Amino acid sequence: MAVTSSLTAADSRSTSLDQLETPIPLVDLDRLERNLDRMAAYTGAHHLALRPHTKTHKSPAIGTEQLRRGAVGLTCATPLEAEVMALVCDDLLLAYPPVGSVKLRRITSLPDHVKLTVALDSVESVDQLARAAAERGKTVGVYVELDIGMRRVGVAGAEELLKVVRVVADCPALVYRGITFYPGHIRGGDTLPEQIDRLQIDLHDTLGILDRAGLRPAVVSGGSTPTVWRSHRIEGLTEIRPGTYVYNDRVTALAGACEWNDCALSVLATVVSTAVPGQAVVDSGTKSLGREPSGTIEEGFGSLLDRPDVTVARLSEEHGILDLRASSWRPRVGDRVRIVPNHVCIAVHLHEAIYGVRGDTVETAWPVTARGRQPLLAAGSRFSALH
Ligand SMILES: Cc1ncc(COP(=O)(O)O)c(C=O)c1O
Repeated sequence: MAVTSSLTAADSRSTSLDQLETPIPLVDLDRLERNLDRMAAYTGAHHLALRPHTKTHKSPAIGTEQLRRGAVGLTCATPLEAEVMALVCDDLLLAYPPVGSVKLRRITSLPDHVKLTVALDSVESVDQLARAAAERGKTVGVYVELDIGMRRVGVAGAEELLKVVRVVADCPALVYRGITFYPGHIRGGDTLPEQIDRLQIDLHDTLGILDRAGLRPAVVSGGSTPTVWRSHRIEGLTEIRPGTYVYNDRVTALAGACEWNDCALSVLATVVSTAVPGQAVVDSGTKSLGREPSGTIEEGFGSLLDRPDVTVARLSEEHGILDLRASSWRPRVGDRVRIVPNHVCIAVHLHEAIYGVRGDTVETAWPVTARGRQPLLAAGSRFSALH
């Protein structure tokens, strides 16, 4: 099948789920392929460049599948993600301001085949990047980041943006490739259309100002999973960077940005106790699911894939407490369940490898190569931050 062709075929190829020790992350390969194909079809139909964010999967195997389906390049948040994705991609965006000499040395040391673009939002960051690039005799592309309402990073407003763009455009070691924003404050729900309209107006004004200054960006990069299917309505947007869509999760489903049956990743867990009435305890706690609140009125840290009315109500490090009050289901010790985490990117980062399944058969597995922070050594092990 398409996905498994580039994923590392594991010895586990014909392993059944019962043979796996829990907790363990599973990906339904049919759903993964459908999610990948749907996004490729959408961006193709609307002539939007797709540069998926790899923070969700952190795996070159999945990055390869995204590129094979037409992604123009990949997005990374950390130097390790960039180093790992450079193994399979020659066009990378670091969507995070690389501040500090160690980080800068690392990202300007990416292999020469990589066309690197960096997102940043300050003159200090421009100066540091320009110096690091010049020291290495390299040219680095820049997207200047605009805050479009999330209040995280990004300059506030078009005039500020223009100031940073001018500095970038004047730097011989840098190439002004465009502008970027991340609409992380838009989580879906009934107000999504109005929020997209607001964003559209702000972006339109900003592009007008850049235009009049003769600095119209070649690329306008935005996009998140909750906003993704309306990207074509944002005039001027040329590129999108959804990440979560590959696997999806409970928060994305609660926001209405995917259907429950689009959730491809679940953590397989075993019921280890039913001693307390009204609940069952599984062997999956914060160290395999994460502890991300849903951010909605729906409580809990995850739900069962096959019984979404059963939620993970409480967590310890290695215990997940399932709330059975809304369900007539009464599991027994030893039963196995599949939990869709609230935030899949966090859950993925807690595991060394992902197991690809169809039905009850494990067909393949792939490593979460870019988890952690430290560089990959040739030998494959990790080293300290001092280098
Ligand atoms: C800068 C940036 N771009 C893109 C994304 C992808 O968004 P999503 O996870 O909603 O797909 C993120 C997510 O954190 C991000 O921080």
